[in-house]
Amino acid sequence: MNFNITNSPLNEIKADLELVIVIDKNLKHPTVKDRKLLKKANFSGAQNEVCHLVEKNRLYVGADNLKGAAIRPAVASAIRSLIGKKSYKHIKVATYVSHPRCSASIRAMAEGFVLGAYTFTEYKSQKSKCPVKTVEISLEGYEPHEISMETAARAVHNGEIVASATNYTRNIVNTPPDDFYPESMEKKAKKLAKELGLGCKVLDIKALEKEKMNALLAVGRASRHEPKVIHLSYKPKNPKKVISLVGKGLTYDSGGLSLKPGDYMVTMKADKSGASAVIGMMKAIAELGLDIEVHGFLGMVENMIGGDAYKPDDVLKAKNGKTIEVRNTDAEGRLVLADVLCYAQQEVKADYLFDFATLTGACVVGVGHYTSGVMGHCEELKNMVRQQAKIAGEMVTPLDFNDYLKKTLKSDIADICNISNTRYGGAITAGLFLSEFIDEDHKEKWAHVDIAGPAFVEHVWGENPSGASGAGVRMMVRLMESLSRDNTH
Ligand code: BES
Ligand code: ZN
Ligand code: ZN
Repeated sequence: MNFNITNSPLNEIKADLELVIVIDKNLKHPTVKDRKLLKKANFSGAQNEVCHLVEKNRLYVGADNLKGAAIRPAVASAIRSLIGKKSYKHIKVATYVSHPRCSASIRAMAEGFVLGAYTFTEYKSQKSKCPVKTVEISLEGYEPHEISMETAARAVHNGEIVASATNYTRNIVNTPPDDFYPESMEKKAKKLAKELGLGCKVLDIKALEKEKMNALLAVGRASRHEPKVIHLSYKPKNPKKVISLVGKGLTYDSGGLSLKPGDYMVTMKADKSGASAVIGMMKAIAELGLDIEVHGFLGMVENMIGGDAYKPDDVLKAKNGKTIEVRNTDAEGRLVLADVLCYAQQEVKADYLFDFATLTGACVVGVGHYTSGVMGHCEELKNMVRQQAKIAGEMVTPLDFNDYLKKTLKSDIADICNISNTRYGGAITAGLFLSEFIDEDHKEKWAHVDIAGPAFVEHVWGENPSGASGAGVRMMVRLMESLSRDNTH
């Protein structure tokens, strides 16, 4: 999709279709030229409501207000409605800003176009794609504004980068497990590293054994695909901060010997969403050329069954020497992350350490399908994640640790158990388990984000398609953009 920004007024631009955003149900605004027809079509202008007036070549969509959080899903919903309609290649739209000098809504609009146009048609014989090739953005405003051509162009460019990286993540997550396994991520990472000049180190079984990552190795033992840990690095000169990102990359989670029931196993190709988000973040950060050093660690493993499988009752020794009693092989993500978190801390002394994982069904039960849970020992850091997520159009809520839940992970025969002895608070106990693998130096710098809910949802929601959403990418790129600008954090 190409974006052109122009000073020409909308009515002088030739296009197949004009997109009009109706703000706050205000059908009386001068930009709404087809009020009578819209009323006839029962269009109220509610958020994400779409009305295509075919004969007028106008596509209307409602947004509650002019802020990015409303514009992004509105534009995505509008563009999504064109999927499969071949004749709309070239569309035009005015400029919408929430404040005369703020370009955030312009960026949100570009994100909405790219996110909404996403389709995953790889496995379809009849491919129904988004026809739009060019979007012409006129600087003619919904309201008067002072945004220059350069500012608008930068906002659009940055929006395109972040949204394309999100789509890149979506593609990985949506790919079926027989076609995407740890080695596939190795190939992807090497290709990306070559294209963007990133460092890329891959640990194979031998290297993982040498690094004593026995918990991760146990999880991967029954798979025909060898596990891999991948370290991608982006190192600009004089970076303002150093950040490590760790991702759970279970290319399939059958549950292992504690086998998942059939219904629960479906969609477990998406258990690689954490690692897939991290590689998407690396892509965006490098393309944006941010002034921070960023390391991405991907723990790629397949959790399967077989004669060689790890078992409930096994005791594993993690990289940091702690012993873990396995009581459920389906609580495998935390075992993989335990070792990768230790490895990340050994390799890089970071100012911030974040991990992303589809870690628990309990997180989905607790906060619903659309929200991630953020955990850690630093309130300020958790708030920062939440705030930046909100700006980026993602929802994250803090789930606070407490010492009572911590005690539920005690084991009789090892240092810790991989599941808690209570049925409740499963997202928090998983976070507390991970905390056992964070050094004292990193305790206040670490946040864990459980993306089990939003990473993969089997229906359209806001700017997200059915299937993989790319959860985590937009919020973290925003957060890292703020660290790259700011010296105070
Ligand atoms: N990958 C799952 C968590 C999950 C569930 C992600 C649903 C997305 C949607 C994880 O490995 C898992 O199976 N967790 C168990 C933990 C339990 C055994 C303590 C769970 O949540 O049931
Ligand atoms: Zn599991
Ligand atoms: Zn899992």
